[in-house]
Amino acid sequence: MRTRILTGITTTGTPHLGNYVGAIRPAIEASRNDDIDAFFFMADYHALIKCEDPQRLQRSRLQIAATWLAAGLDPQRVTFYRQSDLPEIPQLCWLLTCVTAKGLMNRAHAYKAAVDQNVAENEDPDAGVTMGLFSYPVLMAADILMFNAHRVPVGRDQIQHIEMARDIAQRFSHLYGAGRELFVLPEAQVDESVATLPGLDGRKMSKSYNNTIPLFEGGSRHLRDAIGRIVTDSRLPGEPKDPDNSQLYTIYRAFASESEAAAFRRALEEGMGWGDAKRALFERIEQEIGPMRERYETLMAHPDDIETILQEGARKARAIAGPFLAELRAAVGLESARPAAPVPGAKKKAGKQARFVSFRDDDGRFRFRFLAADGQDLLLSRPYADAQGAGAAIKRLRALDDPAGALRPDGDSYALYLDGEAVARGAGFAEPDARDAALAKLVAELRALAAD
Ligand code: TRP
Repeated sequence: MRTRILTGITTTGTPHLGNYVGAIRPAIEASRNDDIDAFFFMADYHALIKCEDPQRLQRSRLQIAATWLAAGLDPQRVTFYRQSDLPEIPQLCWLLTCVTAKGLMNRAHAYKAAVDQNVAENEDPDAGVTMGLFSYPVLMAADILMFNAHRVPVGRDQIQHIEMARDIAQRFSHLYGAGRELFVLPEAQVDESVATLPGLDGRKMSKSYNNTIPLFEGGSRHLRDAIGRIVTDSRLPGEPKDPDNSQLYTIYRAFASESEAAAFRRALEEGMGWGDAKRALFERIEQEIGPMRERYETLMAHPDDIETILQEGARKARAIAGPFLAELRAAVGLESARPAAPVPGAKKKAGKQARFVSFRDDDGRFRFRFLAADGQDLLLSRPYADAQGAGAAIKRLRALDDPAGALRPDGDSYALYLDGEAVARGAGFAEPDARDAALAKLVAELRALAAD
């Protein structure tokens, strides 16, 4: 089974070189692996917690989307969306909020830091603390749990939030899961091998230190200017330099091959002047990001194209989120007012199980149906040449540990995919609500079957 990774990017700023090397580049690389099912999204509801400037938020969303696309993210391959385009997220957030202990949130680092600072300044402990900041981890749990992500690539400061997501998931399942885990329990993935770039002054490159090098904004001129402002020691051209004490070398290494880095190192040790070193650094970075910047500028000039890509991403994400949320709503007692119509005449018998039924078609080929415990016809397979073919497919469906991942809404119905091929479909539904309810039921039944 493919590993699902998911990560969010808060849309409050303009991406810099440190974001590129530390997060964007490795995430895009990971997404090219066939064993990875990647979900990347813009956490713009989270951005609202720290950014009260509508123009800045709007602009940042655009810049970040354009940056990821320009850097090579393939929206066909990855589910790439904006958090705020998924109405299911705040809904799940509320379901989770209702099971989250306030005491758990009291322990969140970001909230505690704000309180500590207030206390140190003799302010009211909660001065300036909004409910958004306080319950930040619940919204983040909703982001992650909605898609049953296995791994969440994040920085160290976010590990606690992933642990909280696990706690909240377990609490929810304990209350509503009737003995089952309703969510995949996510793991934080902190990649130690990825470089943390130093900024202009040698401290970690960060917006809060005001020491960043812009990625695309401002064109190659801003890149060159920023590199010119990297702090060096006062050694003159001809004097040997110490590469290990120069952020110039550290940044160079993050872009160069091993042999290029070794050559750069030698040149510094042999007395290359800082001016030449900066020029070489600029050229090496430009070689990698110059072509991306061109794509970035084209995208920024066509926000409509970005919008189309994001809307398509939201559609893909909602096709998963919608049915899963319906299932969770049903679990807490908020079942849709218009449930899927039961098959006429089908009576629910006590203890009756959902089941596969195989049969021979009129034309002699083999198919199967999947019936819910109450008899509702949830799936009809494609024809197979022989009974073995149909049997093998049934066996695989029974063992699916993530049935939701194999199902997708399709027109007025839904389809079940194995290895990229639609092998079975639901009936036609007059209403999307009815379709989603049937889909949720199907997922629940398949999960129950795989569990026993
Ligand atoms: N809180 C994360 C950060 O500041 C952003 C984020 C929001 C996120 N939702 C997420 C990251 C879900 C991973 C998964 O970096």
